[in-house]
Amino acid sequence: MSDQVYVGILGKGTVGAAFRELLEDRADMVEEVSGRRPKVTGVLSSKKGSFDEILAASDIVVELIGGTDPALDYVTRALKEGRHVVTANKQLLAQHGEELVAAARDGGAQLRFEAAVAGAIPVIRVVQESLGAIPIDKVFGIVNGTTNYILTEMTRAGLSYDEALKQAQDLGYAEADPSDDVGGADAAAKMAILARLAFGAPVNLDDVPFEGIERIKPDDIAYAKELGLSLKLLGVAERVGEGEISVRVFPCFLYPGHPLAPIAGPFNAVMVESSAITEITMSGPGAGGPETAAAVLGDVVSVVGGGSPLFEENAKLKVARDVEMAFYLHLEVDDQPGVLAQVAEVLGDNEVSVRSVVQRGLGGEAQLIMVMHPVSEKRFAAALKRIAKLKFLRSPPRSIRVIEEEFG
Ligand SMILES: NC(=O)c1ccc[n+]([C@@H]2O[C@H](COP(=O)([O-])OP(=O)(O)OC[C@H]3O[C@@H](n4cnc5c(N)ncnc54)[C@H](OP(=O)(O)O)[C@@H]3O)[C@@H](O)[C@H]2O)c1
Repeated sequence: MSDQVYVGILGKGTVGAAFRELLEDRADMVEEVSGRRPKVTGVLSSKKGSFDEILAASDIVVELIGGTDPALDYVTRALKEGRHVVTANKQLLAQHGEELVAAARDGGAQLRFEAAVAGAIPVIRVVQESLGAIPIDKVFGIVNGTTNYILTEMTRAGLSYDEALKQAQDLGYAEADPSDDVGGADAAAKMAILARLAFGAPVNLDDVPFEGIERIKPDDIAYAKELGLSLKLLGVAERVGEGEISVRVFPCFLYPGHPLAPIAGPFNAVMVESSAITEITMSGPGAGGPETAAAVLGDVVSVVGGGSPLFEENAKLKVARDVEMAFYLHLEVDDQPGVLAQVAEVLGDNEVSVRSVVQRGLGGEAQLIMVMHPVSEKRFAAALKRIAKLKFLRSPPRSIRVIEEEFG
């Protein structure tokens, strides 16, 4: 065996540049723990370098370009030619997971992607390796730091959504085009990857319905604050019935005491639940060049060390089309007799039962704030459609899911 391991780096942006620096900085340590000293064979950017030359010279290809074109082609070719691949690219994995697994199998190569989900938190390793032989019931958490920062600032400083987004952009927590983050698509891609690993089932991005935080209003946050609730954008992947799983992303109120409630700012946190372990919560920085590069380096060390992660996809699980959730409902109504009775009638017709009701304000300012018991999402959506047509409503109804579960 050569005493060097040849590493080709695709991309020299935020993560690529940080990874190259870290790899060179930590070369002694990598050699100490893995027995081989890393040597960079080349760094590809959009303007410089040749992929073919880097591929020919490398044992490991580290893909830090992002997106699917040309990353899919490069990664597939590398795997098929027996080069191990480490990537931080969630879109690539969420959209092409199956073909990449097949290419890795064909080429007898390893595919590692710790940095693609929750940045520096070793959630992939825990789900794939540490808990690889345990049936996991649920993986869920805050997997997008941008939205967590925005929601935290809306709560802490009373900023509007637009103000908090602007602040996140100024601080580099949100991109100039933040739509994938704030709309929930980024979190959905990460949850598709986590669900694949946790359940051994081929979950595709299309199987993950998602909602973002763009429509959250300051008075939703004010309500949450009053009750001590936290508002988070959550990704949830869970077993919901015989042979069924559900994977989705949505803004959600959490009761105090929930382990995810105190996660503030641009941080991420992921919980894993299984009857064998009760639950584990991991939290830490979800992004950033050096933080992500550290996760990439961890994968490189694992690859050099030779351990092959489990990546079996053989479970015959169906994606459930309906699940039960509790909801908060915010209605701006005309202050007139019979309003509450009519809303209650529609909810009752759809078997939605109300846990609490608060009526606020008078005249043009009147609001009804209700929290429901857990109910089929489909039935709640049907009720909401009818409520939206009630004549005394002054604006479209707003609903946010609620997780009532308490821990500890
Ligand atoms: N940034 C984070 O905090 C973070 C966190 C977790 C995961 N990730 C993931 O890490 C990956 C890289 O993200 P990043 O933030 O480092 O991106 P970035 O700063 O935009 O860098 C992308 C790099 O890829 C190069 N590139 C673009 N198109 C190329 C092409 N056709 N051929 C060759 N090279 C090309 C760019 O070249 P030029 O230098 O010539 O422009 C640049 O060096 C993405 O998959 C991202 O989702 C990032």
